[in-house]
Amino acid sequence: MTSMPRDFARPTLRIFKTAEMASTAVADLLEQRMVAKPDITIGLATGATPRLVYTKMVERAGAPSWRSVRCFNLDEYVGLDASHPASFAYYMNDLLFDHVDVDPRRTHIPDGTALDLEAAAKAYEALISETGGIDLQLLGIGRNGHIGFNEPGSEHDSRTRQVELTPSTIAANAPDFPEGEEPPATALTMGIGTILDAREIVLLATGPAKAEALYAALEGPVDLDCPASALRKHSAVTVFCDEAAAARLKRDNLSFTGDGYAAA
Ligand code: PGA
Repeated sequence: MTSMPRDFARPTLRIFKTAEMASTAVADLLEQRMVAKPDITIGLATGATPRLVYTKMVERAGAPSWRSVRCFNLDEYVGLDASHPASFAYYMNDLLFDHVDVDPRRTHIPDGTALDLEAAAKAYEALISETGGIDLQLLGIGRNGHIGFNEPGSEHDSRTRQVELTPSTIAANAPDFPEGEEPPATALTMGIGTILDAREIVLLATGPAKAEALYAALEGPVDLDCPASALRKHSAVTVFCDEAAAARLKRDNLSFTGDGYAAA
């Protein structure tokens, strides 16, 4: 078994009995941060995992208010715009933005339909820094350990750019596309370096399909094979997961707190 090098940080780990409890805890943390800083900049993730977090935020719509919040999404498919039901722009409108008082001018998603994708990626990166950087980045994790669409092999200092998706990612996301429609093979994604610039990072992982990736991220080597392992280079990461996703993790330093396990 590979032991963790001492110079990497151990993310705070919070294990909950169910995905619902883990998602509620993430929504609670988001709410807390929004109350503390009403003009907070939040990095948002898409996919199946954060759906429940957004549902919970919509249930609380109005308190806290999204009026002054700025949002940057992690990624978008190349070629899809907000009218395509599998686009991440559509997902965000459908699950969150259409139901809260967010200012659409303060919501940002990489432009997968840009004619010059390289320029669009650079502009996205520039907008993140010009507006003061991301305070809190929400992440899921792919079965192959990807964060955003940073597939294995992505450099830990990578920035927003066009990437090729792996066959396993394309297959995992295929059910989001209408029958017979081929999912895009490329996407625009924030880089791992962009993600690591966030002042605080929250990773949510639920379900047995994420157990191996979470184990590799937290207890395997910090390397390019597991993009999420780069999170151990950051000092303010909290991992929220359910029992199923935590199945392979060591629990030596954790104690049971009633609704789950947390660092003692
Ligand atoms: P999922 O995707 O939540 O749909 O499993 C997670 C991810 O790819 O980051």
